[in-house]
Formats: sequence, C-alpha cells, structure tokens
Amino acid sequence: MTFHIITIFPEIFNSYFNESIIGRAKKEGKVALKVYNLRDFTEDKHKTVDDTPYGGGPGMVFKVEPITRCVEFIKRDEIANDESTRVILTSAKGDKFSQKTAQKMSTIEHLIIICGRYEGVDERIADNVADAEVSIGDYVLTGGELPAMIMVDAITRLIPGVLGNKESLEIESHDRCDLSDYPVYTKPNSFCGWDVPDVLLSGNHKKITTWREEKRKK
Ligand code: ADE
Repeated sequence: MTFHIITIFPEIFNSYFNESIIGRAKKEGKVALKVYNLRDFTEDKHKTVDDTPYGGGPGMVFKVEPITRCVEFIKRDEIANDESTRVILTSAKGDKFSQKTAQKMSTIEHLIIICGRYEGVDERIADNVADAEVSIGDYVLTGGELPAMIMVDAITRLIPGVLGNKESLEIESHDRCDLSDYPVYTKPNSFCGWDVPDVLLSGNHKKITTWREEKRKK
C-alpha cells in the first residue's frame, strides 16, 4: 500500500515514519510513503497556498488550485490512475475515523491524504477532489498532519505481515468492533509492592485465558 501525503510541512513526517514498526514496514516494502510539498504545486513566485475567505471572516483558506494540481499529478504521474485510489481530506468536521475505517482503508492500494490547515480548505476540494473528509476526533487541531500520521499508523499495522507477531493482530481482531483488551504485565513480578496478578504466574493457561477473557469483557 502507498500513502501519498499532501502537506505544507513535509519535514514533519520523516522522523516518525522512519522509526519503529512503520519504519520497518517501509524498509521491507510492505508500505510506501510519499510526501508532497503543496508549495511545489503553486504557480506564483511566492508559492502561495492560501488566501482570505470570500465574504470576509478571520484567517486564511487553502486555495483550490494547488491541491487540485497536486492530486491530479499524483493520480496521473505517480499511480497511473489506479482504480482503488481514495482521496481523504483531514477536517475536524469530517466523518469520524475509527478502527473500522482503518480496516476498510487497509485494503486500498493508494491512499492520498490532503492535510488541511489554517481556518479551512476551499470547499470545492471537499466537493470535487476528495472522496471523503475524515476527522480523528471531536477537537480542533492546527492542521491535518497529526491526523494523517495517526491514520497512516492505524492502517499500516493492519496490513498483513506488518506486525512481527501475527498472533497479536489475530487475537486483537477477534471482534473487530470490540477494541478492549486484557491488561498485560512484564518482569519484575513485584515492584514497590505492586504485584502482578497471581494467575499470570500460575502457569495454568486455561485459567489465564479465562482471566483474560473476564478482564477483556470488564
Ligand atoms: N484538522 C483540525 N482538527 C482535525 C481533526 N480533529 N481531525 C482531522 N483533521 C483536523
């Protein structure tokens, strides 16, 4: 799967995506990440990506042309109009991103994520360019870069072969809507008087499974 991220802060993505599980998935070719600087798709010498809103009001609005040009470039030159491409616009007023959304998106070949910024994005992007507006929660962030990273992270770990321990994904996805999990502990078994539950030290796997199931339900 390839993620195409459109942003005015391309440097933000490197450090996070080169580390840990995502970094390994990239190195192993399980996912690819391409970041596009929106300013490269402007046509004026100041590389202007935003302007004042029609009708007045505070703040600046992302212009329609650079984003449209960038999405068209990606579709035409980078992915040759692949059928399963989806274009997402990050927005606090979008549809809520969930584990279910992540599952669905993990089967897409190319996901283009437009990172919104400032007070908004010209509505013609949502109307004509993006397939969906997606929010990561009921709070307003300064931009779409963190939402993009969160979506890429949640989707990438669902791609087959990305998680080292296949089992951890299998167990977890037992009931795809039930995100609860059981508590886990590691050594030492006692620290400052805080003890690991006896059952986990018992070696009785049946009891451990029952205990975990109860905790999960709770
Ligand atoms: N941009 C600003 N806030 C956002 C949110 N909660 N989700 C997605 N994009 C956003």
